[in-house]
Amino acid sequence: MTQILAISGSLRRASFNTGLMRAAEGLDLEGVSVTGTTLHGIPLYDGDVEANEGIPAAVSALKDAMRKADGVLLVTPEYNNGIPGVFKNAIDWASRPPADSASVFSGRPVAIIGASPGGFGTILSQNHWLPVIRTLGMKPWFGGRMLVSKAGGLFDEAGKLTDEGTLTRLSEFIAGFAAFVKSESA
Ligand SMILES: Cc1cc2nc3c(=O)[nH]c(=O)nc-3n(C[C@H](O)[C@H](O)[C@H](O)COP(=O)(O)O)c2cc1C
Repeated sequence: MTQILAISGSLRRASFNTGLMRAAEGLDLEGVSVTGTTLHGIPLYDGDVEANEGIPAAVSALKDAMRKADGVLLVTPEYNNGIPGVFKNAIDWASRPPADSASVFSGRPVAIIGASPGGFGTILSQNHWLPVIRTLGMKPWFGGRMLVSKAGGLFDEAGKLTDEGTLTRLSEFIAGFAAFVKSESA
């Protein structure tokens, strides 16, 4: 079974991106399991906290979940044409301490998707992730793109993805990423 950890970078209850992540969890793809997580409980990175108290429990849990996954799916919102601070902060924490970073990130397959109510579907935020995942030594999959635009018409009020076409595209994207992940771990 190919295990994919999907991480939503939004804390909002009816988040489009968390909805997209939940839809990925609900796909029925043979040999693929998608588990979603959000970033609630992760504090702002503070080097003094790290030095005096160590890695917060919520960060350790995220690191463990990433280590267990064969591949990681970043489900990213876009804020001011870039990565939301909440999401970058969590990945920064997860890269600490440096001695642990390789076991969490290095060589781990990663793909990026995102949803926005605007017309560009998080394209700039997805691009903004590229230098970050390169620095962390991850293995990006570029075989597909998932830019969910005009999200207001595709999700219900609770944030559930209801648009069949988007679900189909998501299913194709996850199947493609999972095949890449499997080939990397073979
Ligand atoms: C501070 C801030 C900046 C934003 N900047 C952008 C942006 O640059 N591009 C964009 O498509 N949407 C932008 N948005 C709108 C978000 O895409 C929208 O709030 C979206 O619902 C966030 O994702 P979520 O639904 O998963 O929480 C911004 C929202 C906030 C709060």
